[in-house]
Amino acid sequence: MSTAIDVLVTENIVGEPMEAMRRRLAVGFEPELWKKPEQLADAVAAAKALVVRNQTRVTEDLIRAGGELQIIARAGAGLDNIDVEAAGRAGVVVASTPAQNAVSVAELTLGLMLSLARRIPEADRHVKGGGWARQNFYGTELFGKTLGVVGFGRIGFLTAMRAKAFGMDVLAHDPYLDPDSLTVIQARPRLTELDELLATSDFITCHLPGGKQTRGLFTYQRFCRMKPAAYFINVARGEVVDETGLLRALDERRLAGAALDVRSTEPPQADAFGRRDDVILLPHIGAFTHEAQHRVVASVCRDVEAVLAGNRATNYFNFPTPRKRVDEH
Ligand code: MLT
Repeated sequence: MSTAIDVLVTENIVGEPMEAMRRRLAVGFEPELWKKPEQLADAVAAAKALVVRNQTRVTEDLIRAGGELQIIARAGAGLDNIDVEAAGRAGVVVASTPAQNAVSVAELTLGLMLSLARRIPEADRHVKGGGWARQNFYGTELFGKTLGVVGFGRIGFLTAMRAKAFGMDVLAHDPYLDPDSLTVIQARPRLTELDELLATSDFITCHLPGGKQTRGLFTYQRFCRMKPAAYFINVARGEVVDETGLLRALDERRLAGAALDVRSTEPPQADAFGRRDDVILLPHIGAFTHEAQHRVVASVCRDVEAVLAGNRATNYFNFPTPRKRVDEH
C-alpha cells in the first residue's frame, strides 16, 4: 500500500517554487512516472493533488483511482492530456497556466519566422561544415510581408504585436474571436476566413488548441491553397496538422518551408521531415524558458497549496474549490 502524500508530481516540474512547496507539503516527486501507467494509478491513490505537464495521460480511470484527489494542476496551457469532464464529475479542481508561457511561445514564433526567412539553421550547418557560399543564402525580409495568425488567443495576439513591430501586415482567423475584444482593438489584425488567410499570407502561424475541433485542420488541400513562397509555423499542437499532407505539399513545392515545434506523436519517429532543409524541427520547447517555467511552476504550486489549505485556486479551469462527486448528490 502506498504511503499517503499531499502532492504527486509525475513529470519533470522543478524550480524554486516547487522546492518551497516540497518544504511545506509531502510531495512525491516522480518525474518518470508518466511512463508507467500502472504505478501511476497506484501512486495517485494516495495523493490529494496531482501535478503534471503534457505527458501524463490523466484519464477517467486515473481520476477514479485518485479517490482523495482535490486538484489536478497542469504546468502548461493545453488541457488535452486531461479528461476535464471526468475531473469535473469527480469534483476535482483542474488548474492550468493559460497565460504564463505566452510571451515565450510568441517569441519563439518570431524566432522561427526569422529562421525560415533567413535560413539560419541551414546556414549555420553550412558554415560548421566548412562552407562560406553566402550567395546560396539569399533570404526574405519580414518587413512588408503578411502574417496569417490562425487562432487569435493570447499567443496569437502577442505574436501579432511583435510581427507589427517588424512592419508586417497581420491577418487573423479565429471563429471564437470577439471582433470588439481588447486584443483585436490593440493589434488591429484584419479578420478573415481561413481560406483567404491561407491564400494571401506569406507566413502562417498556428496557435490553436488541440482537440476534436481542430484535429487535422491543416490538410494537404489547405497547404495547396498557400502561396508557393509561404512558410508555415506550428508551435501549438501537432495533431492540428496532417503531417503526411504537409510532406506531400512540401515535396510538390506548394509552400516554401515549415517550422514545427510540436508533432502529432511526441517524441516523433525519425521520418522524412528530418531530412529536409526546408523544415526546422524543435522538441516542443515553446514554453521552455527560465522565465516562463518560473511563472508556470509558481502558479501550479500556489494553486495546489491554496486548494489543499481549503482556499480557492486562482487559475482554475472548472471550479475554484473541490466539489462533491456528482454521483454522491
Ligand atoms: C503548453 O500547453 O503549455 C505547452 O505546450 C507547453 C507544455 O505542454 O509543456
